[in-house]
Amino acid sequence: MVEAFAVASGKGGTGKTTSTLALGMALADEHDVTVVDADTGMANLLFHAGLDDATVTLHDMLVAGTATDVAEATYDRFGLSVVPCGTSLAGFEAAEPGRLRSVVAELAGDTDVLLLDSPAALGSKSAVLPIVLADRSVIVVEPTIPALSDGLKVQEYARSYGTNTAGVLLNKVRDSAANVAERAGRHFGGPVLAGIPDSDVVRAARRAGEPLLAHAPGSEAATRYREAAARLDVRDGDGDAVAARFESAVIPDTP
Ligand SMILES: Nc1ncnc2c1ncn2[C@@H]1O[C@H](COP(=O)(O)OP(=O)(O)O)[C@@H](O)[C@H]1O
Ligand SMILES: [Mg+2]
Repeated sequence: MVEAFAVASGKGGTGKTTSTLALGMALADEHDVTVVDADTGMANLLFHAGLDDATVTLHDMLVAGTATDVAEATYDRFGLSVVPCGTSLAGFEAAEPGRLRSVVAELAGDTDVLLLDSPAALGSKSAVLPIVLADRSVIVVEPTIPALSDGLKVQEYARSYGTNTAGVLLNKVRDSAANVAERAGRHFGGPVLAGIPDSDVVRAARRAGEPLLAHAPGSEAATRYREAAARLDVRDGDGDAVAARFESAVIPDTP
């Protein structure tokens, strides 16, 4: 059984990677979770997960002719299976985005929850594919009107490929944002899963190279992420069917 979520946003820096790892760790209490840094152009999950020195990454899987096994790019960290992506421009340029299909298809056979840390801008094949492949999306937005508007565009795009919204995470919330949160709930197709406070402890976790739930499990932000994960009601899609869907996904012309 497996369900694949794209963790997506309109802009970069909203907290997709922070949220991917935090939701992943919270869901790992009950599920077998694999997180993939599918943000192949702006990869940073490795820094958040203490995997800066990973020798084999998703980039190696996306280059034709390099006979690397997915297992070699998968690391057991913090109770999760983590597939980091390299950060070199050369690696990105050599990568063939379409090969992500067979990578996630293979991972789908062996996990309950697949979280795809997805690119922000929707301008290229490598950027749209994770959203197209996923069953549902979790949209991470900061609680400002322009950010919500960008998030709604991502939602609209995802829906056009049958990827509905599992929920919205409002991140970097300051006290003044209550009114925006209420509006967000009305406009998005899924519930507001949580409001994560803007907090130094989240930045400190990143600097320490640890996911928030490992670095500061008792923090308010960590508690909010656990509540968000509990609201996700993961579905148990048939692993083989999901894998077959991934393999045969049509890569859309870029929007
Ligand atoms: N709730 C938060 N409070 C404070 N800083 C945050 C919060 N969420 C994320 N950050 C910081 O913002 C930066 C971008 O977060 P990241 O998860 O890497 O974003 P993305 O993957 O969307 O580019 C990081 O330095 C991270 O520590
Ligand atoms: Mg990121």
